[in-house]
Amino acid sequence: MKETPKMPEAFPHLDYKPKMPRRMDHGIAIVGAGGIVNYAHLPAYKKAGFNVLGVTDKNLDQARRTAREHGIPKVYASLDELLSDRSVEIADVAVYPSVQVEIIEQATAAGKHLLCQKPLADEYAKAVRSVELAEKAGVKLAVNQQMRWDAGIRCAQLLIDDGWLGVPTYATIQVHCKTDWSLWPWIYEGKHLEIMFHSIHYIDSLRYLLGDPEYVFTSGSRGPGETTKAETKTLSVWEYASGLQVLIDACHSTWQDDPYAIFRLEGTEGVIKGTIGLMYNYPKGRPDTLEFMSKRNPGYWFSARLDSMWIPDAFVGPMASLMCAIENNSVPETGGRDNLRTLQIVFAEYRSMEEKRAVRPPEIVV
Ligand SMILES: NC(=O)c1ccc[n+]([C@@H]2O[C@H](COP(=O)([O-])OP(=O)(O)OC[C@H]3O[C@@H](n4cnc5c(N)ncnc54)[C@H](O)[C@@H]3O)[C@@H](O)[C@H]2O)c1
Repeated sequence: MKETPKMPEAFPHLDYKPKMPRRMDHGIAIVGAGGIVNYAHLPAYKKAGFNVLGVTDKNLDQARRTAREHGIPKVYASLDELLSDRSVEIADVAVYPSVQVEIIEQATAAGKHLLCQKPLADEYAKAVRSVELAEKAGVKLAVNQQMRWDAGIRCAQLLIDDGWLGVPTYATIQVHCKTDWSLWPWIYEGKHLEIMFHSIHYIDSLRYLLGDPEYVFTSGSRGPGETTKAETKTLSVWEYASGLQVLIDACHSTWQDDPYAIFRLEGTEGVIKGTIGLMYNYPKGRPDTLEFMSKRNPGYWFSARLDSMWIPDAFVGPMASLMCAIENNSVPETGGRDNLRTLQIVFAEYRSMEEKRAVRPPEIVV
């Protein structure tokens, strides 16, 4: 009789959904009721069962519309009014990075915990000031780097922790798609674009998976005819002391009808590869895919069926992590100090682009 093929010795249990807080009644109030709040934050919080008490926006009509569409009980006429509501424990801020520090200053003075949008600030000094304000006030500050909770990335981390990759030797994220930056006029006109607003997710996720690089080298450019002020396509190479190399290749001006968004991690023991579903049809997207193999089980490629989406599902992660940190008096996964290191890489990449040289991220200081 033919022997039954030997099953792999181990099949990982990929428990990639966010760890939820003990209490679901933490009072959240939203500052800035724009696009991302409407199509990502609020749908995610509804799915998770979080307690959104109210919303404000410089444009009060926008706040009212958001409250109506998402069944939010209260519209605050001003930030002051929101901050003086004692039932608000967390200010969930989603305004422009250039003004985020002003809101952080007021919210920390009022003793509110904060979930801030990425990028934490448009200048490194403002980001440092934001983190220091929170530390001085003794409140928690987390940054909404939610790609860490995107299913493919979180599963890759679980596999790495479980030894499937061994020592990482090579990693890449490559995304070629068409992005209409005119949907965000304030980004379109800005002096920083692709790295500051998009690749920052890849930078943060790769740091999360692999740690911090020694050197970064970046080339940034635009496609022919593009009229944004800043770069829309970038190639970045990171070097680690261990010999690990990373490539981030992000191009938003591809005209071809075969967009792709892939990640791949290679190590001494295995390979993990997948697709980033969101980037095939932003902001609707599709679930990520994930495949992996390891010398532990030669000849087998495993694939995981992932049923959650970057938007909105991954947006539960940073908020849940902040709530857990409040409950346990610990540091949120994407806490402010950690985020400064992501921003050091962002600004190191810009310095590298300008000066045409490899830059060590710790060169970026106030
Ligand atoms: N995946 C992601 O994590 C992701 C995606 C898109 C945008 N973002 C970030 O979210 C933030 C908002 O982006 P968006 O696309 O929603 O922009 P948007 O222009 O649609 O919305 C911003 C809102 O903030 C309000 N606002 C501005 N300054 C304010 C202030 N001082 N007080 C109160 N309200 C104020 C505006 O009136 C507007 O309604 C940005 O930092 C952006 O980088 C993150």
